[in-house]
Amino acid sequence: MFWRISRSLERYIRNILPQQIAPDRILEFGPGRSTRVFAETFPQALITSLEHQEPYYLKHKLKLQDLPQVTLYHCPLDHNSNSFYSTGLWSHSSYDLILVDGPPKNTKPKVRGGASCIFNNLTPGGLIILDDSNRPDEKSIIQQWIPDFDLTEIFNGSSFTVLQKSPSVSTARTRAQAEAEAEPAYMLGAA
Ligand SMILES: C[S@@+](CC[C@H](N)C(=O)[O-])C[C@H]1O[C@@H](n2cnc3c(N)ncnc32)[C@H](O)[C@@H]1O
Repeated sequence: MFWRISRSLERYIRNILPQQIAPDRILEFGPGRSTRVFAETFPQALITSLEHQEPYYLKHKLKLQDLPQVTLYHCPLDHNSNSFYSTGLWSHSSYDLILVDGPPKNTKPKVRGGASCIFNNLTPGGLIILDDSNRPDEKSIIQQWIPDFDLTEIFNGSSFTVLQKSPSVSTARTRAQAEAEAEPAYMLGAA
């Protein structure tokens, strides 16, 4: 239970996030409850989830097998570099939404800062959720990320923070855009 996303983050994902973004692609560091919550909230999205520990990878592979939109990778940490997840197929895609809920804090100080390796692949206007952001390490990571990657803090929960990449050259689809695109032509007054 302790390892799962909090109830408040789950409520945020289910109730607030759909008003902010309609992601096509979601990346998640640390699978589990959050994977299922994303799949239920954004059934159209493809979800890529990384697990570094093989026993948890096998456990989640089984538990999430009913969700075809989820691609789960066993992705060991790269201890020759910053002890973040080793790069691979996952690091060649672009994403609209990223949840950073791993690696665990006892891996290495400020280990979750390594998530910035994928920020160039975050679509403009895309969102990053950093879980456990009430911890000193995570607070310091946020202070570094905001200026370095032109991010804006759009929500500060009791134990998680939501950051947005500058939407200036926006290609990320907002909820309003997605709904407009889904609108039948006759509704828009076309013949
Ligand atoms: C915070 S957990 C990810 C939780 C996930 N996002 C969820 O909502 O269920 C991050 C990592 O901790 C490790 N982990 C998960 N459960 C664990 C446990 N019971 N004991 C030790 N490590 C665990 C796994 O490697 C996992 O990827």
